Order: sequence, then C-alpha cells, then structure tokens
Amino acid sequence: MILPIYIYGQPVLKKEAEDIDIKNYPNLGELIENMYETMYNAEGIGLAGPQVGLAERIFVVDLDPISNDEHSEFKGFKKVFLNAEITERTGEIESVEEGCLSIPGINEKVPREDRIRINYFDEDGVEHDEEYSGFMARVIQHEYDHIDGILFTDRITPLRRRMIKSKLNGMEKGKVSCHYRIKTV
Ligand code: NI
Repeated sequence: MILPIYIYGQPVLKKEAEDIDIKNYPNLGELIENMYETMYNAEGIGLAGPQVGLAERIFVVDLDPISNDEHSEFKGFKKVFLNAEITERTGEIESVEEGCLSIPGINEKVPREDRIRINYFDEDGVEHDEEYSGFMARVIQHEYDHIDGILFTDRITPLRRRMIKSKLNGMEKGKVSCHYRIKTV
C-alpha cells in the first residue's frame, strides 16, 4: 500500500523518533513492505518512519535502482535499519547535493562526514554493526537524520537557507505539488 509522504512543515518530521519493539511490533513486515512501495512510487532511494507519519526509528534504503558499472556496490543493496545508532563519524567532510521526498523540488549541498559506523537491527531482530563510506554513508546519514528529527535543510549554510526560505514557507502552508501521494496541512 502506498502511504502518503509527510511534507516539510508536518510536526512529525521534527520529532526525535522512538525505538521500536521489534519482536512485538504489529505487522512490522507489512509496514516495511509499504515503506518500500511508497519509496519506489516516489522514485526515492531512502525513506524514514517520520516521512510516513511514524515517530519511530525505522528507515529503508534501496540503492539497486541507481547501481551502474561505476557503482556496482549498489547492486542489491536493499536494507531496513531498525533502532539504528551511528556510533562513529570520521573522514573528510564533503558537501554534496541532496534532495528529500519530504522537501520536493529543493536540492542543496549538504556537508557530511565520509565514513560512518552504524549499529542497527534488521527485520528479524538480528543486530548488525557495519561501516560505510562515500555515497552509502551519505544516504544512511540522511535517513538517520530523519529519525533524529533533522532535515537536510537544517544542515545547509545560513545563506542558502535564506535563499530557499520562501519556498519552505510555502511548503509549510501546503503550497506544493508533486507526482506522488503526500500529506500536508
Ligand atoms: Ni529525506
């Protein structure tokens, strides 16, 4: 089932999400399936709980659709991250353009560390401790920010924020159009 994607201005996007009870969560598999379906429908590569109105520490990532010869490591990279905790952020800080399904039509350069270490659980409750770098680290940090109530627009320069302020203000008031199902005011 395709869920509505919550748009900039919806309070849930600014909330720090809560850990989920993986063993007792009702229909967790169904939620994960719905999140993937919602993400594919909107042509995204990541989607977090707050973006579908849930202040819960869950996000999904699928980089397979953007895999190519240069990025063969994206092939089959489809994962759900539950109760994730980034335990290390190291390496160079790089600024690369990002977008977000909750902020349609806006792309800005966002500074992020190049390497991360992340601890999380999968849908079977199995714990993982993994390291990522480059684009994968960036996507994971973007989604992880969502479960901490942080949007990429919180990380851009004050100048850039001023440049997009009126667009964001409009979005907050429901002035937005995009090709997928959304929830706004
Ligand atoms: Ni996003």
